[in-house]
Amino acid sequence: MNKKLSRRNLFKASAGLAGTLLGGKALAQVCSSTTARQALGPFFPNEGTPEIPVKEDNSPGLPIHLANDNDLTFVRGIGGHAQGQTVIIKGTVTDEDCHPLSNARIVIWQASHTGKYNHLRDGTDTRFQHPETGQWIERELDPSFQFWGQSTSDANGEYAFKTIVPGFYPADLRNRWYRPPHIHFMISAMGFPQLVTQMYFKGEDINNNDFIQELNQKDYLLQDSSLSEEQRNNLVVEFTPNPEGTLEGTFNITMKR
Ligand SMILES: [Fe+2]
Repeated sequence: MNKKLSRRNLFKASAGLAGTLLGGKALAQVCSSTTARQALGPFFPNEGTPEIPVKEDNSPGLPIHLANDNDLTFVRGIGGHAQGQTVIIKGTVTDEDCHPLSNARIVIWQASHTGKYNHLRDGTDTRFQHPETGQWIERELDPSFQFWGQSTSDANGEYAFKTIVPGFYPADLRNRWYRPPHIHFMISAMGFPQLVTQMYFKGEDINNNDFIQELNQKDYLLQDSSLSEEQRNNLVVEFTPNPEGTLEGTFNITMKR
């Protein structure tokens, strides 16, 4: 337990430091266009929908999507570490005029490293063949993975998550459509309509990056023609090793009134 707590505190400390170092620079780039909306999808964690009801905070009345913290790489009380490549996602939430939005609530949810959501509706194609290698992939839950979490932006509008790169998964096998690794985001800020979007991956150190970029190019949601080129680029976050060797990327979010 102590080990887990210290790991958690370390993450908070390092995220805070990085946020301070990057704050001013990030802001200048944040507000050129508002963050594109993307589909909510069928796997948002509601009461009764997860196969494993992961709840780190059992406070009465707390909805399950708000019951977990911003480190998805382990589950308090369960033990073990989530499988998959660990990443840190940091960013600043602003309005269109570049003003940082404090107290914005950011909820994320995603699949396991083998592309399985912790959701009762994700029960089809539990086994599929890799479209290039032909290798069979078993889509499985990972009990040490937290699957969803939440964070609140600080006074500078900054937030952070630690998680893993999710697996890709079949969206429509007949049409050979595979969803690239992505993380669902829901952002609520006072005075703004709720924003729902998805974040995608790139980076030389991301496992199978070339294949992931092919999937990004072919993904119907990311390539939706209603997105501007800039909006599309902003959804694909580049991950590079930070000084501790963990892959880290910046996903800034610009809210539209
Ligand atoms: Fe999804």
